[in-house]
Amino acid sequence: MYSSSWLSYVALSALSSCLATPMAMDRRTVTSLSTAQFSSYAPFTQFARAAYCDGFQDWTCGAACDANADFEVSLAGGDDSDIQNYFVGFSPSLSSIIVAHEGTDPLQLESDLTDVEVLLASLDTSLFPGISSSVQVHDGFKNEHAKTASVILAEVRTLMASKNTKNVMAVGHSLGGALAELDALFFALNLPSGSNISAVTYGTPRVGNPAFASLIDQHVPSFKHINNEKDLIPIVPGRFLGYAHPAGEIHIISPGNVVLCSGDDDATDPQCHN
Ligand SMILES: *[C@@H]1O[C@H](CO)[C@@H](O)[C@H](O)[C@H]1NC(C)=O
Repeated sequence: MYSSSWLSYVALSALSSCLATPMAMDRRTVTSLSTAQFSSYAPFTQFARAAYCDGFQDWTCGAACDANADFEVSLAGGDDSDIQNYFVGFSPSLSSIIVAHEGTDPLQLESDLTDVEVLLASLDTSLFPGISSSVQVHDGFKNEHAKTASVILAEVRTLMASKNTKNVMAVGHSLGGALAELDALFFALNLPSGSNISAVTYGTPRVGNPAFASLIDQHVPSFKHINNEKDLIPIVPGRFLGYAHPAGEIHIISPGNVVLCSGDDDATDPQCHN
């Protein structure tokens, strides 16, 4: 009975299957998600996965690309070291622009983010117009995001016009999820009002402080961050270091048992990450 229904779970477990290291993945009132509800995220899981896979540049990356076979890549970049791989394109079947960022070795990311030296920095007002200096994010995520922000925004604007769509979806896993979270706010502050900005991220670390999290809640109300079982990445950097997740956690407790966690990252629900 889980045949196609838990495809998305299986895909999530194998999300970084194009990465050599196994994924170490990673929260209030909860609502159970039905199989159909959870399965609606499957296309985004596969886009996040594709960013890890050789061949995403021309959409010949195998199973992850085949799962969204009609996708049209229009910009692909990154070098697997200094700049995380990324792509932008249009999905006719989802009527949406998709922006995806690759993640990184989860064990390395966990060790980087449990370092007590993790620094919070204000966002650059040239990229995030009008943002208050009290809104702060992880310094490393900020710098990585800034490397590709302008080129991606230009491509999204071009596609919004040529495809006549207002729908923009950012996805990513681990570090890629952090970049997609930053992209979501970045798009919301730079694209015309009336744009439909969403993001779905997987095994995402905390990206910024509570002021940042509340801006995501305000500007990207449909934001979802999906966490797998007892993955450790979503609990770093720690809340005691001044970090918080936005609302919108979906927690896969076990195969077939998925909950939507309401409210903030306050560790008040044992079925959610904390
Ligand atoms: C906004 O985007 C989401 C995610 O792609 C989609 O489910 C929703 O239908 C879109 N809303 C509109 C009004 O198109």
